Formats: sequence, C-alpha cells, structure tokens
Amino acid sequence: MCGIVGAVAQRDVAEILVEGLRRLEYRGYDSAGLAIVDENENFNCLRRLGKVQQLADALEEHEAKGGTGIAHTRWATHGEPSEINAHPHMSGDIAVVHNGIIENHEVLRELLVSRGYVFESQTDTEVIAHLVDWESRQCDSLREALQNTVKQLDGAYGTVLFDRKDPTRIVVARSGSPIVIGLGIGENFLASDQLALLNVTRRFMFLEEGDVAEITRREVSVFDVNGHSVEREVKESNVSHDAGDKGEYRHYMMKEIHEQPLALQRSLEGRLINGQVNAAAFGENAAELLSQVKHVQIIACGTSYHAGLVARYWLEEWAGVSCNVEIASEFRYRKSHVFENSLLVTISQSGETADTLAALRLAKEMGYMASLTICNVPGSSLVRESDMAYMMKAGAEIGVASTKAFTVQLAGLLMLAGAIGHYNALTEEQEAQLVTALQSLPTKIEQTLSMADAIEALAEDFADKHHSLFLGRGEQSAIAMEGALKLKEISYIHAEAYAAGELKHGPLALIDAEMPVIVVAPNNELLEKLKSNVEEVRARGGLMYVFADVNAAFASDETMKVLSVPHCDDFIAPIIYTVPLQLLSYYVALIKGTDVDQPRNLAKSVTVE
Ligand code: AGP
Ligand code: GLU
Repeated sequence: MCGIVGAVAQRDVAEILVEGLRRLEYRGYDSAGLAIVDENENFNCLRRLGKVQQLADALEEHEAKGGTGIAHTRWATHGEPSEINAHPHMSGDIAVVHNGIIENHEVLRELLVSRGYVFESQTDTEVIAHLVDWESRQCDSLREALQNTVKQLDGAYGTVLFDRKDPTRIVVARSGSPIVIGLGIGENFLASDQLALLNVTRRFMFLEEGDVAEITRREVSVFDVNGHSVEREVKESNVSHDAGDKGEYRHYMMKEIHEQPLALQRSLEGRLINGQVNAAAFGENAAELLSQVKHVQIIACGTSYHAGLVARYWLEEWAGVSCNVEIASEFRYRKSHVFENSLLVTISQSGETADTLAALRLAKEMGYMASLTICNVPGSSLVRESDMAYMMKAGAEIGVASTKAFTVQLAGLLMLAGAIGHYNALTEEQEAQLVTALQSLPTKIEQTLSMADAIEALAEDFADKHHSLFLGRGEQSAIAMEGALKLKEISYIHAEAYAAGELKHGPLALIDAEMPVIVVAPNNELLEKLKSNVEEVRARGGLMYVFADVNAAFASDETMKVLSVPHCDDFIAPIIYTVPLQLLSYYVALIKGTDVDQPRNLAKSVTVE
C-alpha cells in the first residue's frame, strides 16, 4: 500500500531507489528496504525498521552497488512492523517487494510449507516469493513464473521482483494496486507512483489491471491479463518537479492549506462561463447526461466522504434531485436499490482507494445511468474506469491529512449541483449567484487564512486535552465531521462531531470543562437554532470555541472564545469554514509534537480493503 521503486540501469541505482522512497515517504510507512544486484551477480539486501533515513544510513555502512534493484516502504497489514517483516522478501534467488494484500495467503502458505519452503516472516508477501521460486523451476522465464503465480493469488497487489542470478531484468504485476513504468535512455524504472521517479524521467507508461511486464535496460514488454502481448501508451508527465518540495513551510500540510486559493483558482479556470457552470468540465458528453439525472448516489471514504455529505445538501436544495451518500466499504457489501436516471458519483483525491474502486466496479453492474468521478489524479484507476471525470487540478497532495483536496472537491461538487440544477430547480438568477460565489472562493479563502495567528494562539488551550466535540448544523454538520477527523488524524486527540441538534439526544452527557466544544457558525437561517445549542452547552459548564460569521453576533466571554470568519455567500460557507478547522488541527498537532505529514498508522493512499 505504500511505496515501490525499481530500476534497471548501467549506473548504480541505490541512490535513485532511496530518493524514490523519500518522495513516497508522505504516504506513511513503518519500515523500508531494498535489494540490489550488479552484473556479476553480487547481491545485497538491506532492511530497516523506521524511516527511509535509517535505510540510507545503513547504506553508508554496507555499500550496495549495482544497476538492478527494487525498494519498498512497508505499511504493515500482515505481521508487525519489524525488520524481518520488511520487504524485500527472498526465496532462493528471488527477491520480492509487494504493495497490498494477498487474501488467500494462508492456504498458499500451507501449500508451500508442504512443498518444503520455510517461512521467515509473518507477511502475506512471502508467499509470492516462494510461489515464484517454485514456478520458475517449472518454466522458462521469470516472467512466465510470475504469470503462473498471479493466477493463484487473490487480493489486491502490485508486486515487483528479480532473480539475483539474472541481473538484466525485473518483472512486475499489477492487480488493484498501481504501478507505473518510467522510461529512460538505456535504463528503465518503475514505481507505485510517478512522483517517485520525477528526478530520473518524465516519460511514463501506466500498467493496467492484470498486466504483467518485463523490464530490461532497453525494453519494456507488457502482457495483459490473458497473457497477450500488448502496447501501453507512453505519456509525458506534466506533474511539476517541485510537487514534492515544502517550500517555505515546515510541513506539507501547511503548504497545502496555503495553496488552497491557487488550487481553487486553477480548478475553476475555464469552467464558469457567462454566469453558468460549463458542463464540459465533467466530460465530453456530460451536458446531455447531466440533463437527465434525477438521483445521485455518492460513494467515497474519509475526507472525500465528508465532501459527499456536504454535496447532498447542495444537490437536494439547489439541483432539485434526490441524493444518497455512502461510505464505499459499506456500499460494496450490501444490497442497495438503483433509482431511475441515477448518476453514480465517486469522490477520491488519489483515484486509487480500494473500497471506492470496488464500489464503482460493483455499481457498474447494477444499472446506474452513468458514473462520474471527482478526482485529483489523472490516469488513476477511478478516472480510467468511470464514464465521466471531473479533474480537480488541485496539484499533488502530499500531507496524509487531506486539506486542499477537500476544498477543491467541494468546489467541484458545488459546480455539479449547478450543472444538474441548470436543468432542474435552479433559476437563472440562482445559477449566476452560485457562479459568482464560486469565483469569489480564492479571495475569500485568502482572507480566511489571515485567521492563522489567532488560531495558533487558541491552539494552546488544546495541548492538555484528550477529547473534543465539533458541532454544526446543515452542511456545516459535515464540516464539523471533517474538522474532527483532521484533529484526530494529526494530533491524536479524540474528536467527535455531531449535528448540533442531536446534542441533547446523548452527547450532552459528555460536556464538562475538559471537553472543548468547537462550533462552526455561519450567519444563515439556522443561526438562531445553533445559538440555542450553544446555550445548552454553556448551561452544562462546557468550554466553547466558536468560528462565527462577523455578523453572527457572538461575543467572547469566560466560557466562550469567538473567532470571526470573513462573511461569505451561503453557497460557499462550507468551503470557507473548513479552513479555520484545518489550521486549528495543524497548530494543535505542532504543540503536541506529532508527525504532522505522516501521522502514525495512516497511509496516504489506501489501496487495500
Ligand atoms: C484524509 O485526511 C484521510 N487521510 C482519508 O480519510 C482520505 O480522505 C481517504 O482515505 C480517502 O482517500 P481518497 O480521497 O484518496 O479516496
Ligand atoms: N501485505 C504486505 C505486508 O504486510 C504489504 C504491505 C504494504 O502494502 O506495504 O507486508
């Protein structure tokens, strides 16, 4: 699920591999390792628990020379994080790295033990090594051995291996976990994400589901799921070189929070024309399809799911269509009903989230009118497998905690409400208002970012807290959920979120001076109701932090700190109120001294179930 990098070159590749792993560090991992062989079959395998830097330090002591190598950062799924469980895994002369999960590893382990193999690790990965070793004894090439092996594997994986007795080639298989091949001159590379290779090439070939490929210094041969030789398109990457740099910021997360005005501007460019949303932003024939939509089913995970929850309010109120929102891991394992003229919408920053992808595949069998993905990564699985795609253009998001991707997703979903509403409930005047509100986003977010100093000061109050409660009403109840997720992800403070009206049905019992309550309070028609909820908390001795519209008439006192949020149009309020909550979680994490960009136990792209 984390990082894979590989290279076949004339030059020594250790540095390229380590640099590639560094560029994938943001994904979160617990150990790192590499295996390198030179043309005389001198072989080295190094693995370390902890950071890539530890692996780099180990390389200083144990030189690993050679032009053929594979490297990995592991995010443990089977077996504890430890050196012995770190990849590469070996079987005889075969070295293997693997992202993902082999679901039938127990059965395969038994089979391999009965064949005399001895397992060193607790990982599911090791079965791949032994299976390939076994198969390579029965066939002519390593590639065939891998093809025979993958037929026996269930689950989602990207796996890369070589035979130390044949340093000229690396073989790779992709099934549910992305692999990209980077093309050089007289050398070739591969990785689980093109970001890892941007310092060595800009030309990429994206493998498709079920592909097996063989890579030598001069050639890349790809075979599809049926074993037929196939050509895969080569694309020039336009991902910027410095996508992986923090610039003036201490953390990617802060950089990405501040990038939001620019990301939104880029995302909206050319998509709002003459007071209308340009339906072409959703795909070539989108206008015709969107005009027929009567129901929207949204599927996503985590932060992207929260974006979907906000969109439901917009779609039902402004577009006049019914809407359901569901977490992908639930949707895919239950029977659900498909309404007439129903559009399936997946939302995903990475485009590779295993549950969302599986839900899309399932939905395609179920008879939805069409599928649309709101996604940030061109060429990702969700983009390739959906009928329509809204490309977010937020730029690479490195921090594990999603920030700019969320606000850009929301802008895209508001545009979707505008585009569908155009054919339904939305009046011309409302559509023009929606478009003006969207256009004001970059400036409004910029203004909101100026709250940073005040929020930094406020964060001190959270340093010794273990729990917190986030409240909002309407769309803002989903923003409260996102605020709570951000805080727990990066500061490890337990945070819960509730629609404020739900307070008296249970959570009010939690209120005391040790439980800070964070409230998002735009100046909308629910303000008076929200104020009553605030009084309910005050009456129970709760301490409140209210992010309120400048005109919402909240005043700070000994039980309540009020921070003014710039006034904005109702349409975009959920996007604007997200920003102070992002800043709050960031500053609290700074005080707690946690790993902001790579929080413990988490990974950026969740390509396993
Ligand atoms: C966000 O801060 C999370 N780390 C996580 O919830 C994320 O949003 C989720 O895993 C979905 O990812 P996706 O958008 O790439 O599909
Ligand atoms: N399932 C494998 C393991 O636990 C691979 C995990 C990963 O994707 O990093 O070792």
